[in-house]
Order: sequence, then C-alpha cells, then structure tokens
Amino acid sequence: MTEQKPGNSLVESLTAFARQHNVQHWSGTFKEFIEQIIPQAPQRHSRLSHEYIWDMLRWYAQKQGDGEKKSVTALFARELFGIDGALTRVTEYFKAASAGSDVGRRLLLLLGPPSGGKSTLVILLKQGLEEYSRTDEGALYAIAGCPVNESPLHLIPHTLRAQVRETYGVEIQGELCPFCRVRLETEFGGDFMQFPVRRIFISEAARSGVGTYAPHDPSTADIADLVGSVNLSKVAEIGDEGDPRAWSWSGALYSASRGLLEMIEILKVKREFLYVLLTLTQEKNVKVSRFPLIYLDETIVAHTNLAEFHKFLQEKENEALLDRMVIVKIPYTLSYLDEARIYGKLVSAAKTFRDVHLDPHALKVAAVFAILTRLKKSARDDLDMSKKVRLYAGEDVDGFPEAEVERVRAEHPDEGLSGASPRFVINALSNAITRSETSSLTSMEVLLALKDAIESDARMDAHQKRQWMDYLVVTRKDFYNRWVKEDVHKALFTSFEEEAQQLLDKYLDEVEASLDRREVIDPITGESRPPDERFLRSVEEKIKISDSGKESFRQEVVRKAMVAYKAGQKFTLDSHSRLHDAIEQYLFEERRDVLRLVTSAARPDEEAQKKISAVQERLVKHYGYDEHSAKEAMNYVTTLLSQE
Ligand SMILES: Nc1ncnc2c1ncn2[C@@H]1O[C@H](COP(=O)(O)OP(=O)(O)O)[C@@H](O)[C@H]1O
Ligand SMILES: [Mg+2]
Ligand SMILES: [Zn+2]
Repeated sequence: MTEQKPGNSLVESLTAFARQHNVQHWSGTFKEFIEQIIPQAPQRHSRLSHEYIWDMLRWYAQKQGDGEKKSVTALFARELFGIDGALTRVTEYFKAASAGSDVGRRLLLLLGPPSGGKSTLVILLKQGLEEYSRTDEGALYAIAGCPVNESPLHLIPHTLRAQVRETYGVEIQGELCPFCRVRLETEFGGDFMQFPVRRIFISEAARSGVGTYAPHDPSTADIADLVGSVNLSKVAEIGDEGDPRAWSWSGALYSASRGLLEMIEILKVKREFLYVLLTLTQEKNVKVSRFPLIYLDETIVAHTNLAEFHKFLQEKENEALLDRMVIVKIPYTLSYLDEARIYGKLVSAAKTFRDVHLDPHALKVAAVFAILTRLKKSARDDLDMSKKVRLYAGEDVDGFPEAEVERVRAEHPDEGLSGASPRFVINALSNAITRSETSSLTSMEVLLALKDAIESDARMDAHQKRQWMDYLVVTRKDFYNRWVKEDVHKALFTSFEEEAQQLLDKYLDEVEASLDRREVIDPITGESRPPDERFLRSVEEKIKISDSGKESFRQEVVRKAMVAYKAGQKFTLDSHSRLHDAIEQYLFEERRDVLRLVTSAARPDEEAQKKISAVQERLVKHYGYDEHSAKEAMNYVTTLLSQE
C-alpha cells in the first residue's frame, strides 16, 4: 500500500493546473491563425474589451450553476454583500457597452465612501478576467512581441477588411501599433502572413491585460507612468529617437490593453491625465510623442471617494468631463445582516481575531450600530430608526409590507454614502482585543470598544460623537437586549423547541375545541372537560390580545393552521410570528425563577448552583457562547428582568 501524504493532492492539483495551462498555449504565424483559429469562432476572436468583460461575467454566472446564483453579479456576490443594486448597475454598464451603445465610450467611475468595496470590486473583475482568459471560451490571441498585445486582426489591411466581414461576419476595428508596423517592414518585408501570433493570458502580475495606476504625489506624477517614455539606452542602439522600438512601452495604458485599466482615486490625478484617459475611452487611441495615434482597446474602471468628487464638481472646467463618465454609486450596505457578514469575512482573515471567541451577537450589534450611523430619518412618524434597521434587513415590521420598503428607500437615495465604515468597526474591535489581550469578546465589550473608538476619533466633531454614542444606546436597547434575553430564556429549558411545540399544540387543541364549542378529551384520563379558557387567555395576554379581540385572533390562528395542514406542513412557531412571541413569553415567565438565583444576595446553595450551571452549559453547547460570555449574558439578563 502506498501511503498518501497530505501534500499529495496539492501536488496533483498543481501538476494538473500546469499541464492544462501548457496545453492551452498556442503560437504560430498569422497565416496559421487565420486558417486554424479564426474559423472556429470568428465572433469570439474579434471581441473588444467591454464585450470580453461582459462575456466573462456571464461565463462566471453560468459556471456557478444552479438557480438564483446565475445572476451576472455572481462574480461580485461571493465577496461583496448587501449592495446588489450597485453591482447590478455595474454589470449593466458592461452589458450596454458590449451591445455597442455609446455608454462604452464613457469611462466607468465608481463613486463611494471609503472602505465601501470599490477596490474589491475591481480586484474581482481582474481575477475573473485572469481566470476567463485561461478557458476555451475566453481564449485571447495577440501579435507576438507586440507591446500592447494587439489583436492579430489589425494586420489585415483596410482594403481587405470588407472581405473578412463578408466571410466571417465580423467587423475589424483598430490599427496596427507603430511598433509592429516597423517590425512588419524591417523583419518581414511587409509579409504579414508570416507575422507571429500567440495566445495570451490575462495576468496582473505579468502586466498583461491588466493595468493599475495609483496617484502618488501629484507634483511629481509624470504622464510617462501612463504612456511610457523614450528609452535612452535603446536610442543609442537604434540611433533614432522617433523609432517606436526605442520607446519604453511600460505605461499602465499599455499593460491594460485588451483588458482592464484600474485608475485608483482618479480625481486626484492632474487634469492632463484625465484628458488622455477620456480621449482613450472615447476614441480608443492615445497620442504619444512623434508617433501616429496608437489604437488601444481597453476598459477603464476608475474610483473615487465623495470628498474628492465634490471638490471636482466645484471646478467649472470639469463639467464637460462629467458627461464622459458613467458614474455608479457604490454605497455601504444598509442591511445589518449583510454588514455582519462583512465583519465575519474580515475577522476570519485577520490574525488578531484568530483565537478570539465572539459571542453570537457580537458582530450583529456592531453591524446595527454601523447601519444606524448610515441611515437618514424617515419623514414618517411611525418609522423610527430601529424599525428602519429591521425593515432594511428584510425583517417583518408591523404596518410596513414589503411594497413599502421601496418607498422608504426612495425618501433618501443617497443613504449609505456616509457613516461608519466596516474598517472603522473592525479597527475598534482589534484595538479592544490587542489592548486587553483578551481571548473572548462579548457584545457588551464590542459596544464599549465602539464607544472608545468614537471618543478617541480626532476627525469627528462633538455633535457627531454624541449622535453616534446615542446609536450605541439604541443598539443595546432595541436589539441586543431582545437577542440576549431570548438566548438565556431558551437555555432555561432542556429543549426549548420541543416544549414550545408542545405548548403550541395544546393551545391549538384548546382553541379548536373552544371555537367548535365542544369538550376536550384528556389524553391520559380519557375524561372530557370544557376548553381551558384560563390557559388560552394567559397565552394571549402575553401579546395583549383583548377579550373582545380574542375570537378573531383565534379564528385566524386556526385558519393558518388549516393552510399548513392542507399543504402537508406542520404548524410550528415559525408559522405565526405573534403566537411565537406569546408562547415564548409564556414559557419564559414560567421559568424565570432560576435567574433570580444568579443575583440573589445569599450565596447560592448547591441545588441553585447546579441549576445555574445547567443554563450556562446550554448557552455554550447550543447557542454559541463561551464560558465568559455565557456568564455575562446571564448576569445581564437577570439585571434586565429585575428592572422590568
Ligand atoms: N459590501 C461589502 N461586502 C463585503 N465586503 C466589503 C463590503 N464593503 C467593504 N468590504 C470589505 O471592506 C474592506 C475595504 O474595502 P475596499 O474594497 O478596500 O474599499 P474601497 O476601495 O471602497 O475603499 C475590504 O476587505 C472589503 O472586502
Ligand atoms: Mg480602495
Ligand atoms: Zn503591436
């Protein structure tokens, strides 16, 4: 028997990857390219960058397979949560541009608050392109040795392009670059059929199909970073400064050719740069030195934050530039559940958090706080901030059916463009962990950590600090208290779900008997008795069902139970949210005495101690707490109850 070493499967994967990668390579002459490659899929091999990216997005969605995930935003959705609207608008840009709309002649500008996922979105696009270019559908071919990886079809003279259109139904766009033009004459005596062609792969590391430009100091920023410059050592060799072979083709614009150029903080660059970029998007060419116009096909995705954008808008000259951009706002998410997922992602990647236990609500309380800082007050009196938080997370809020949510959102289209960033929250938590060297962080400690972060923030003014502090209080009162109480209450039972279901069944039996005006048969003694009205009322009173309203409430419960029954489903607590609350409270109040033991002045006796430990153990075993947070939760809930 051969022993399987743990590294084996990795080595196999690497080998398979390398082999496959190798198989996919192709090189030949332009003649071979025209004979062997083009006829297979003429349309595919004449795509421009926008089309290529749009196809990549659809390919990715397809690859994900089943159902819901088949949306063209799938590429982004694996890393970016809760901003589906913005992601859809980004994909719509590519769709329209790919269809040949004028949109493709405008630059895509992502506008959003700091740490809102703009860079992540572009990284995902780049990764998607790298992967796609390694597939059959995404195969890209270029003139070998061309500094801009241009399409081999550029070799076809204009006079023959109509014939290509007739034969293959494809339109050739673009001109041979100055570099290849010189080579064609000097090396091949004009015989373009002999020009070498090869398959290329998009790779940021290899500066192939991906370019990135980040402005450093604007005073020293040189346009050469974008378009290259004369290569002096080559000039000495070639003897002519105007020879394209003596040009250093190292600019970001060239690396990005056939793919994507990312412009980080684009509005910080000099206006001169901006004109080059806008001309490039509009005309697909760039003017450099003494060369003729260089044709370049690439998609520019730029990003900027709101502060820069407002500064930009203030300069009159910039107005014309705006028309040449498609602006997509990338806001923070407004769903606390998605926000908590973001933290989950960031926390699992950070070393600080590796050995730290977080109680089950720790990230959610931080998320609720963050959402509160991002929301604007609704004009509607019946919708306070807490309700709004719940509404935006898709929870049921009395009086606000789903159709209302869109109307509430429409009140403030710019919601989500300001407020606490995920980075602010994660930094606050890491600081708390590092400072106290703790290995367990509870929700209450998270709230304290956020309080510290607000207090010590130098950029915030006093008014805003006070407001954010208030949000911490709202988070605790309207969210955390409810969550922790429910956990501790449930942990009072050996199996809460089971007992709740039993109680629900009993309630339903009694209600049915009462509505039918018949007796209830006791399952054990077999004796019959009238329905237990006192029990029914004590459940209903928990959710303030009045004596006059009880009949219609009961009828509605029975109706829902019938619907479930007919659909072959069980009527459970989840089938009826108000009854859910009533049953929970009924059970909790029955069992609360144990909690009083926690804080009783006297030292608890052995019996009491046992009961307390049992609850604590259940919190750990079933509800995601550790010992430290379980203790704190019990103490906290006991205090809450004593204040009721
Ligand atoms: N909506 C979101 N979903 C998932 N992660 C997000 C989201 N917004 C921000 N992040 C995460 O926050 C961090 C900062 O985001 P980043 O892309 O650098 O923002 P920006 O470029 O807008 O400043 C990243 O790790 C990113 O993954
Ligand atoms: Mg960024
Ligand atoms: Zn070229």
